[in-house]
Amino acid sequence: MSPQKKVTPQSFICMKEKQEKITVLTAYDYMMAKAFDYSGIDALLVGDSMGMVIYGRNSTLKVTLDDIIRHTSAVARGSEHAMVIADMPFMSFATPEIALLNAGKILQEGDADAVKIEGGHERVATVKLLTSNGIPVMGHIGLTPQYYHQLGGYKLQGKTAKAAEKLLEDAILLEEAGTFSIVLEMVPWQIAREISQHLHIPTIGIGAGSGCDGQVLVAQDMLGFSNSKKFKFVKQYANIWKTMVDAAEAYIHDVKTLSFPTTDNSFNISETEYSEFLHLISQDLKILSRKKNKNEKSTKSDSSSIGKIYGN
Ligand code: KIV
Repeated sequence: MSPQKKVTPQSFICMKEKQEKITVLTAYDYMMAKAFDYSGIDALLVGDSMGMVIYGRNSTLKVTLDDIIRHTSAVARGSEHAMVIADMPFMSFATPEIALLNAGKILQEGDADAVKIEGGHERVATVKLLTSNGIPVMGHIGLTPQYYHQLGGYKLQGKTAKAAEKLLEDAILLEEAGTFSIVLEMVPWQIAREISQHLHIPTIGIGAGSGCDGQVLVAQDMLGFSNSKKFKFVKQYANIWKTMVDAAEAYIHDVKTLSFPTTDNSFNISETEYSEFLHLISQDLKILSRKKNKNEKSTKSDSSSIGKIYGN
């Protein structure tokens, strides 16, 4: 599918009004962004999930502002049509003022179109300050991985009536504060559907069922980059792990059996230049062997003088 007009926060809201589902995938580099953008995806999220899928860490907590800015600028270069949303990493929005400074950097240096911030009612002041300065904000409630220690792990959220009610309250407060959409992560589908119906802005679900206004998946999960166990909420659309292993095995085989590179993969020099080169090196080799002989002679005489000094 060929890319069309640039997607904006306003397009997200229009899509919800038209009941057109919104598609989001994470991306962390130029090539992947370019391919997804070409596919016609609505938005690319430079998620702090990069901590795991790019850097091999066991949580998102060590992802820094510099990581986010570097990866976001690569993704932005690969994206013409999709809106580029960058995650604000752990501790980068500890106060509204710190958040404003850091979100500004993410837009100025990383070329993001919007930022995403984890948290509910506690983020209201931050969302107001950012949006009043022209920075579009996506909210993120339910399972918020930056709260890993406080939540006691990666668990389904909003399982009790009270917890679900609190999620709805958070969603309404975030909408009132000015977010243009909200990620609902690991929430029972009935609750996610209910929240989506109460809001004017779209909800983007991950592990939250089909009642959300859009969906997001981590690219590496949906592409099957790893051979480890996949999460219940992931649908795998490719097996890149197998493609990579098969390709690497074939490459190893070809190099070891001299099947690659062939002359087709190699560059040629003209016969005349090659003969001239052989002539030149035969001269060079004569000079080199003369120099070598001379050096050997002088080393022998040196060692004999050292020998004299030490009485050998
Ligand atoms: O970091 C991320 O990839 C995310 C998505 C899972 C929503 O926050």
